[in-house]
Order: sequence, then structure tokens, then C-alpha cells
Amino acid sequence: MCGIVGYIGNKKACPILIAGLTSLEYRGYDSAGISTIENDTLSVLKDKGRVKNLKNLSGFNSLQGTVGIAHTRWATHGKPSKINSHPHMDNSKTFSVVHNGIIENFHELRNFLTSKGCTFYSETDTEVIPNLISYYYNEIKGTDASNNIFDFLTAVKRACDKLNGSYAIEVISKDFPNYIITAKKNSPLVIGKGHTENYIASDIPAILEYTKDFYFLEDDEFAVISKDNIKFYNKSLNEISKNFKQISWSPTAINKNGFEDYMLKEIFEQPDSVRNTINSRLTENGKYDFSDLNLSNEYLQTINKIYIVACGTAMHAGLAVKNTFEKLCKITTQVEIASEFRYRNPLIDINTLCIFISQSGETADTLAALDLCKNAGAKTIAITNVLGSSITRMADNYMLTHAGPEIAVASTKAYTAQVTLLTMFSIHLAEILGICDKNLIEDLKYNILCLPDKLQKCLNTNKIIKDFASKTFTEKDIFFLGRGIDYTTAQEGSLKLKEISYIHSEAYPAGELKHGPIALIEPGTTVITIITDESLSAKSVSNAQEVITRGAKTLLITNIELSNNNFDTIINIPKIHPFISSILAIVPLQLLAYHIAKNKNLDVDKPRNLAKSVTVE
Ligand code: F6R
Repeated sequence: MCGIVGYIGNKKACPILIAGLTSLEYRGYDSAGISTIENDTLSVLKDKGRVKNLKNLSGFNSLQGTVGIAHTRWATHGKPSKINSHPHMDNSKTFSVVHNGIIENFHELRNFLTSKGCTFYSETDTEVIPNLISYYYNEIKGTDASNNIFDFLTAVKRACDKLNGSYAIEVISKDFPNYIITAKKNSPLVIGKGHTENYIASDIPAILEYTKDFYFLEDDEFAVISKDNIKFYNKSLNEISKNFKQISWSPTAINKNGFEDYMLKEIFEQPDSVRNTINSRLTENGKYDFSDLNLSNEYLQTINKIYIVACGTAMHAGLAVKNTFEKLCKITTQVEIASEFRYRNPLIDINTLCIFISQSGETADTLAALDLCKNAGAKTIAITNVLGSSITRMADNYMLTHAGPEIAVASTKAYTAQVTLLTMFSIHLAEILGICDKNLIEDLKYNILCLPDKLQKCLNTNKIIKDFASKTFTEKDIFFLGRGIDYTTAQEGSLKLKEISYIHSEAYPAGELKHGPIALIEPGTTVITIITDESLSAKSVSNAQEVITRGAKTLLITNIELSNNNFDTIINIPKIHPFISSILAIVPLQLLAYHIAKNKNLDVDKPRNLAKSVTVE
């Protein structure tokens, strides 16, 4: 999705803006642009294509201004083109704006502004914003020639009042060369506090190199930012005070650290990231500490249903823990796709616990589903990787996964951290409810402690997976089979493969195969089976045998000794309790997707059409 960066200080803004945009490239984009204030005039340079292309545009070297805004665009309204790229200016070239989000009523606003004599040059929804600001600014200013920053702020506020939809905006003006004004609604924006300089970004990593102190703007709030000061205002334009939060991520966490790609680095980080997740909740006496959650034991005793709501990989993390919640806590647990859940009038009451999983904490559908549950009176918990993200501010409670920044678009270490954290929470809940076999709880806790070492062993499958990938990358279709937890792993493995290798793939519950999908199996079709649950292994082997008989080329991922099997390739992973086996079994499948994509010379970190954080519906 689109990315925003801003800088105001004593240094040349341009290199800082370009570096910020470069570190946001992972979000996915098709155009880039930058606007700075040069001797009381606004300069705008923009084009479709990569951020680095901006450096080749004429005028780039003369950008000397110390105040600027910048943007990477992921096209929604209007194709990727120079004219549709941000920043956009008003007709009088007094205001320059970058915008993330979607203005739903832009046709109406365009008609209104056109009737006032305004001309539009782009196909974007965004272009109405600088022109609305200009319209209200002229209205406020009248004959008053004094350049009052409050007039600028009021014009921005009045423009925002007219916008339906979502926005995070930065505005600069040639009439106010010492300020940047920002505002947001349903789209993230952070402000980094520096010393005699300040920074703005849609995502923390863009400016993590310069500061660890972040303010998080809330919906309908405004910030007037100068190099020495940041003033915050509510929607009535009353000044408000805000506290900044310190982010613990190290700037080196957003380097590739010698790996060829972020995705490979993040796959290899999993022993550490899962260890961090475990340690974030583990106390010295081996108990789990969730006392930061505002959920009393009395309330937890009343829960009659759990909804776990999320999108994509985060939703698969929910599927991976559904059975654990039901087995340990004896509470019906439903896992739902957020974009469906939000529109299907789900049955929710005050005894329903609603858990939302989102790596980014900014996924629009997940946030909307959360809002729905809150309005229905349910208690909400967010599981996220990003401190200060929208979900942490919307949910009644949040838990951080502590996986560290995930830059590659394909989610890997966030998944294993989410499954780990939710399993720990289910154990905590079961202990409070006091209805679960203590031996099972102790066994699971022990197995969780073993995860980091066993993840390390899973990474040793890299070489054999790489060989398998080199023989498989030309396939058109790949099938994944599993039963129980292994079906969830199959679904996540299939998603990884699709999104970065562009190979069509499907995951099926192994037992469902003969009810239709087996018709697709031909001699040579690649079928990957996952078997980590002893109690289901014989059944899964029989199902795999059905495709072997029909000539499929087979790969088995397992931690069980299986006699009499005819799989072509077997990858052994360490034994672990089946409730958490997805955390290990997914690793070879992440590596497989990675190596297949590399064999196809694809950009694994930035797959086509995808964005890291999906902030639109
Ligand atoms: C897949 C992937 C996506 C995300 C989904 C939710 O690799 O990354 O499916 O999992 O878009 O994103 P978050 O977790 O940020 O809400």
C-alpha cells in the first residue's frame, strides 16, 4: 500500500525522504514522488516506477529545502502514471499534499470544486484535498494578509471535515515554509521526535534510523509540526497533549544482515523471534504472565464462545490454535476471515471473547471487524507485531508478538510468533478455568520451551528443500494435503507458494481428496503431504497413497517414523506436540516457496500486486 515520509529540520530533506521511501518499498508501490519547499516555492518531482528513478528526474539535484513530504503510491484511483503520482498541488500551487487511503466521495467534491473554477489534472481521489484546502484557506484568509498558521490548520481541518473514507495526509504550503501539517482517519501515521528536527511516516521503519521516540496520531487529530515543536489538536482544533512512546526495535533489524532477501532472513530469524515471543510472557518460575490484560478471572469464567478474526496468514495462525483453545479451554472457537465476518452479522454478546490477529495492526478489514465486536459489547484482544499500530489503540487489550520488524511481504516469522503466543494464551486461559488435564498443560509448556532449538533444526532442511525446488519450479500446479493441524499448515504453505512463486496451488484436507480434487491429479503432478499428528498418520498415508497410485510426484514433511510408504522425497522435522507442530512444519514450506521463487528469478520480498499492509478494504 502507499507509504508516507516527511521531514522538517536543518538538514536537506531530500536524501532523508528518499531513504525513508526506500525503506518503505517493501509495502508495495508503483509510483513515487517528493515535494520540498525551495525559497518559498513548492517543488514537486514524481513519476511512476521505482523510488531510485526520482534521482534521474531533472531538478532533483537542485532540491535544497529542509522541509519536505514524500510518497510511494499503490494505485487505486487512476493507473500508475506521472500525473497520478503524489504529491498533488492545488491550482494556485500554494499547497502540496501526499495522501494514503481512499476518499469515497471524491466525485462529489470534484464537482463542487469544478463549479468553483478548479481544474483537475489527475484521475486520483487525492487531488481534491489540496484544492479543498486552498478553497477554505482563501475563504478564511479573505483580505487578511498575515500568515497565521492557525488559518492553515483551519483550512486543513475544514477540508478533512468534507472527506468521507480514509486518509493519512501531510500538507506543506509555500505560505508557511516552516511547517508541515498532518491529519489522519483510518490510516496510520506516526511522528518521530528528533532534536531540532522532526519526522513523519506511515510506518515506523521508514524513520527508525533517526529516532526511537514516536507519537501516534489518532483519528480526527491534527499535528502542526515545525523543526523545534509538535503541536497536537483535536477535531475541534483545541490543543491537546500527547505522550511519545519509545520503540525498542533496533535500526539494524531492518537490514538484510548478509541475507540475499528479507524473506530468507526472516525465515532464519524464527528461532530467535519465537524465543522472544515465549520470553515476553514467561516468568522465572515457569508460569505465564498475562497480567497486563484487563480481563478479570471472573470475566474469563463467563466466556461462552471465542471468535478469532484475521486475514491471510494471520487467519491461518488462528486456524492453527483453534483446536488448542477448544481442547484446553472447552470453549467453542470459531476462526473467521475478517472481510467476511464484518458483513455477516455474526452472533456476538458480552460473553464472546473476540481475538484479532494482525502482524501490521493496520489491516482495514480486521480493524472493521474489531469495531463491530466492540460495538456488540464483546471484549476484544489484538495480537500484533507493531506497538502503536491502530489495532493496539482500538482493542480493549493487546499482546505484542515481539517478532521484530517483518519487511518481506510474505509473512513468515509473524505466523510462528502468533501461533506461539496464542497457544500460550490458551494455556493461561485453561489454567484459570481449571478444567484441563494438568499433565497435558505441563507437557505443552515443555514443548513450547523446546521450540527455538527445534526451529533451528528445521532450518537445516534448507539444502534438501533447495534441491527439491530446483526440480519443481517449472510446475503449473502444486497440491498440499494434511489432516487436522497439518491441513492448516498445508493451507499456509500453499498461500506462501502462491504469493511469491505465482504457481497455482491448493490445499485440501487429505480425507476430502476423493470427493473431487483427486480428478486433478495426473502422472507427474506435485503433491506435498504434511503428517505430524500420530493419531491421524495412518489415514493421511492412505490418502497420499491414492495420489501416488495415480502417478503424483510426492514430498512428505513429517516427524513420524512411517513404515511402508512410497513418497519420493521425505523431509524429517523434529518431534513436537501436535498442537504446535505447525510452528515447525511450516518452516520447510516457507523455504520451499522461497527457493521456487528464486529459481524463477522473482522478487521474493515484493511479489507482484501485493502489499505488506492492506489498509484499504
Ligand atoms: C501472506 C500475508 C498476508 C497477511 C494479511 C494480513 O504472507 O502476508 O496474507 O497475512 O494481509 O496482514 P496483517 O497480519 O498485517 O493483518
